[in-house]
Amino acid sequence: MDKVRVGILGLGRWGMCHLEAFSSLGTAEVVAICDSSPERLEQAGKAYGIANLYQNADDLIRRDDIDLVSVVTFESQHLEPAVKALKSGKHAIVEKPVTTRPNEARAMQEAAAASGKLLFPGHLLRFDPRYAAIKEALQSDRVGAPVSMYMKRSREQFLFQTFQRVHTVFELMIHDIDLAIWYAGCRVRSVKAYGRSVRHSGAAAPEVLWANLEFEDGTLAVLNSSWTTPDQAGVEIADAIEVIGRSGTARFETSDGGLQFWNDAGRLTPDTDIHARLHGQSVGCLREQLTYICRCIGRGEAPTVISFSDAVHGVEVADAIVASCKSGREVSLEEPVVHE
Ligand SMILES: NC(=O)c1ccc[n+]([C@@H]2O[C@H](COP(=O)([O-])OP(=O)(O)OC[C@H]3O[C@@H](n4cnc5c(N)ncnc54)[C@H](O)[C@@H]3O)[C@@H](O)[C@H]2O)c1
Repeated sequence: MDKVRVGILGLGRWGMCHLEAFSSLGTAEVVAICDSSPERLEQAGKAYGIANLYQNADDLIRRDDIDLVSVVTFESQHLEPAVKALKSGKHAIVEKPVTTRPNEARAMQEAAAASGKLLFPGHLLRFDPRYAAIKEALQSDRVGAPVSMYMKRSREQFLFQTFQRVHTVFELMIHDIDLAIWYAGCRVRSVKAYGRSVRHSGAAAPEVLWANLEFEDGTLAVLNSSWTTPDQAGVEIADAIEVIGRSGTARFETSDGGLQFWNDAGRLTPDTDIHARLHGQSVGCLREQLTYICRCIGRGEAPTVISFSDAVHGVEVADAIVASCKSGREVSLEEPVVHE
């Protein structure tokens, strides 16, 4: 296969990053794009010279010159386009959270198995060299098997206006749930979680979320996600991790990546790791993830770095975290999760 022919569904903030990153790969060609907003669609088509523009996902999926469909629409609406893409013989990447409902995650996995096509979850942090280095260190004597994990993720307050549309566990913490499952290498047995509002007491989603996870092998994880970085602080990403293993500790913190801009608007510490630009090309772990996905498709190989099974379990864990926040009780994943 010369180039992987890509169709992108959803051209919001993150879909535009997919478009930019795919367009800068030598191994991919964006053939068609889709968004329900005609203005966004036209703008993106012009900016990237793409002629095949669709407002309806079915019309894009129906094309027979697409190898991979990228599903970057709203968090709770990934099931239908992902399953339709697989059924029509295309590979699919589904952005995180792959869905907000465990039964839908399992349905996607079944659709992939039935179609024989590859299904990739958009868990891009596995392609961040720092998180990947920790995974390697956990598999050697450098840090050894994990005993305790702490992971923090914080984003600027203004983003909550948009992202309160889903529970914080699905927008932010799902990244750390996936990392924790990857690092522990086994399933979560139980969770106890706490959500708190800070400025938006009427919102369904908590601005601060804590979750304690106990894995089946006894490994512990404490995850902390929040939408509380002050906008004026100028820090796009304020994340941290510490993993204690049997022979060492791995850790890093991101709020001072070294690069800062100072001007009349204040100070800005921009993201340079997830998706950034370098001489007109995209760089960062999104690009690394998409490169990997194109390589898997080109070689006809199932992915080993990312796992849809782990993503399904991640949604189960997230669902249990929502239930625990509501009930105030520990929730076991060894029995069906009840939402009170
Ligand atoms: N991996 C990451 O780090 C990361 C970062 C940001 C967002 N995301 C994920 O990407 C997804 C999209 O997030 P976003 O920030 O771009 O949201 P957004 O609201 O900015 O964009 C969603 C876009 O999808 C379009 N859309 C929705 N339903 C559609 C449909 N049926 N057909 C066509 N277009 C449709 C909307 O018009 C909108 O342009 C979410 O799942 C989000 O969690 C991932």
